[in-house]
Amino acid sequence: MILKSGEVLSAFERNGLSIGIRTPKKSDVFDLRKMINDLVEEQAMILKNNKATIKEEAKFLRNTLAEIMKGNRIMLVAEVNGRVVGNCELKIHSMRERHVGSIGIAISKKYRSIGIGKVLMKNVIELAKKTGIKLIYLEVLDINDCAIHVYKSLGFKRAGKIPGKILYKNRYHDSIMMVKKI
Ligand SMILES: CC(C)(COP(=O)(O)OP(=O)(O)OC[C@H]1O[C@@H](n2cnc3c(N)ncnc32)[C@H](O)[C@@H]1OP(=O)(O)O)[C@@H](O)C(=O)NCCC(=O)NCCS
Repeated sequence: MILKSGEVLSAFERNGLSIGIRTPKKSDVFDLRKMINDLVEEQAMILKNNKATIKEEAKFLRNTLAEIMKGNRIMLVAEVNGRVVGNCELKIHSMRERHVGSIGIAISKKYRSIGIGKVLMKNVIELAKKTGIKLIYLEVLDINDCAIHVYKSLGFKRAGKIPGKILYKNRYHDSIMMVKKI
């Protein structure tokens, strides 16, 4: 099932804010770049540690939109007042792992802990179910307590760890693997 670019899937209110969950569109490039660069700046516990130029972000988004059209990816964004404040992406694996999707999520600092992350991820998981995904996989930095809390509350279970996989603030950290059967 492939959704149109910019299609709104749900809308809800939190802390007086109207939040929309929708598919990404080409014009999101500026907001997505700002979001990722702000995350890099705050040294958020994500893999990326270098800022993106507008050209790089446009290439990433073009590639993502093309992968969505081929049915190889699911991505949804959260929007507040017409600006993207969060995104969640699921990459569908290939061959003998076609039933597996790797998921990643980030919310802009100002909009965290008001429930956007959980709703956004739930929406992506619902879409994944409809496309035949049976197992969702993720990796998270061992000290990312907030993300681990969110994942556990959505039914993800710890499936192991890769010791010392992530260099964060001059220390090697374990990468925790988590999975959810859907
Ligand atoms: C992880 C992230 C996506 C969660 O999104 P969010 O919108 O803040 O999540 P929600 O508001 O839906 O839920 C947050 C939950 O974590 C809890 N929480 C917040 N800070 C916490 C902490 N330090 N330790 C444990 N739990 C914490 C909140 O109380 C809330 O739990 P509850 O719903 O049971 O009360 C967001 O914090 C983020 O983008 N972080 C930076 C990027 C990142 O770490 N991405 C994940 C990489 S694997």
